[in-house]
Amino acid sequence: MDHRPIGVFDSGLGGLTAVRELASRMPQENIIYFGDTGRVPYGSRGRETITKYARQDVAFLRTFDLKAVVIACGTVSSTALDALRQEQDIPVFGVVEPTAVRAVELTRNNRIGLIATRATISTGAYERVIWANAPRAQIFPAACPLFVPLVENGRTQPGDVVIETVVRDYLSPLKEAGVDVLVLGCTHYPLLREVIANFMGPEVALVDSGAEVAHQVGRWLAEHDQLAPAEQKGASRWYVSDAQADFRELATRFLGRPVTEPVGKVDIEKY
Ligand code: DGL
Repeated sequence: MDHRPIGVFDSGLGGLTAVRELASRMPQENIIYFGDTGRVPYGSRGRETITKYARQDVAFLRTFDLKAVVIACGTVSSTALDALRQEQDIPVFGVVEPTAVRAVELTRNNRIGLIATRATISTGAYERVIWANAPRAQIFPAACPLFVPLVENGRTQPGDVVIETVVRDYLSPLKEAGVDVLVLGCTHYPLLREVIANFMGPEVALVDSGAEVAHQVGRWLAEHDQLAPAEQKGASRWYVSDAQADFRELATRFLGRPVTEPVGKVDIEKY
């Protein structure tokens, strides 16, 4: 048993979709969340900058006594996971491996679509894990750079002509390729699940990276006897690097429940 909190971070608010899954699977866990709202998006930046930012994010989280760190960001997971793992003396979980493994489990025709930020797609990280588990899989990747800003601006609902047009533009080649699984390789994308599902059709399974990493963390903690006591009611603490006037409203949508706890502001450049 381990009472220490789990540290979770993302470039912004997308990682809250992973927190939502963690909290629903393990309501007893305390969670410290950092969203680098002052520097989002990471997905259009280069490897060195993303790695530097990720190190700072983890250094801030490590000011708390944590039992694990969850990188709730496809961009950081695909770019800096190995570096962070080498530097940390507690487990560091990324979204790529559990999500890619799940995609392989779900596909029946070995045609897997992958959508993510430009940075994530350029690393080839998802492809490496998919091919290690399914060497004959065909992967159809698409970078979707407009999704993160549209999600952060609330353009997520079916019937919104802007998001529907962008979804059609990005996803048409994947639909034409006949994929039967689509990896949502960025933690912002679960907010677009409905629009994406409507476009791709019911025969295409969508894999949510936040849900998959939450599942992996839960399994690992249980196997290592590091879950918090079941009778405990977990608490969350929120930190951001830029005070967003609409943080609560946006965070509520990502998290699926009202954010009532205080929100701390962090000068992340100090770390
Ligand atoms: N949620 C991040 C990811 O999973 C976001 C995007 C970004 O900062 O570009 O990749």
